[in-house]
Amino acid sequence: MKFDTLRWKDGRFELLDQRRLPGKTEYLSLSSARDVAEAIRDMAVRGAPAIGCAAAFGVALEAARCVHLAAPAFLSSLDDAFSALSKSRPTAVNLFWALDRMKGAIDPGESPEAIAKALETAAVSIFKEDVEANREMGRFGEEIVPEKCSILTYCNAGALATAGHGTALGIIRSAREAGKDISVFACETRPLLQGARLTAWELAMEGIPTTLICDNTAGYLMSREEIDMVIVGADRVAANGDVANKIGTYTMAVLAKRHGIPFVVACPISTIDMETPDGERIPIEERGPDEVRGYGGVHWAAEGVAIRNLAFDVTPHELVTALVTEKGVIESPDAEKLSAFLAS
Ligand code: MRU
Repeated sequence: MKFDTLRWKDGRFELLDQRRLPGKTEYLSLSSARDVAEAIRDMAVRGAPAIGCAAAFGVALEAARCVHLAAPAFLSSLDDAFSALSKSRPTAVNLFWALDRMKGAIDPGESPEAIAKALETAAVSIFKEDVEANREMGRFGEEIVPEKCSILTYCNAGALATAGHGTALGIIRSAREAGKDISVFACETRPLLQGARLTAWELAMEGIPTTLICDNTAGYLMSREEIDMVIVGADRVAANGDVANKIGTYTMAVLAKRHGIPFVVACPISTIDMETPDGERIPIEERGPDEVRGYGGVHWAAEGVAIRNLAFDVTPHELVTALVTEKGVIESPDAEKLSAFLAS
């Protein structure tokens, strides 16, 4: 990978500011949990696993920043950090999963120095495990990709959305590494254009043949048999297999069903939320109207028009052909298969 989405070195935490891509490759240096919460909310870092990793480093950063305080003040500053980070974005469950894991690393009976050290170790582990999970997902996922395949992907589920390699794009990368003849259609993904700005950038850098299309072009290309498979990531998978992902994913799933094209979802197990029974119960983020009004400070919508900006949608599990995780592939996921898979 020619870039680091997130990097932690000697207690310094930097992240690639994805709002500036592809024009500028700039790293933000963050010094507190509040900085990290703001970077997540403003989407300097985005994508479910990357948000989880960033939140973990945010807690580690806060612990290092407050390590000189007496134990009660130190623990209370950590509580504030957890609270700020948990409010940064609501849909990607990896955020809450990572925060829970960080909480589990705290032994309140220990000194601030020992707790800070344990939190740094936990954050680094979450980061490393995510890269390994993506590699494994790539290995399992590429087995269901035909030798020659035109793949449509949506939003960005690549190295930029994770600690490295990517989930959906990880499968594409692994299929290429296995020598398969892969080409990609990247949907631009309105309103924040993660497909046009991020997916196209990542794939072009590696010479993976990629064609950018407007979101509304996908259906017609499917009807002309120009797309063999859809692979997307996920922000949260409910216990019955319903999938929350970037707004517009549901449309792609319906289109794929209509045209008999496999619709594959790739995500680490940390994205599966067995406490949320179905997609209806997944909290869906609504963002401000300016993102729909235009882009990059240029507004083109009619003045005063009402706007809704839902950031995610839910694809019912009946439309999912396969869920690819680091532990294997679940075909036609449903409540029974998911719980058996996780228990195995
Ligand atoms: O709003 P974003 O850019 O955070 O949305 C990202 C997505 O919807 C991704 O597809 C999802 O997080 C999976 S990333 C591996």
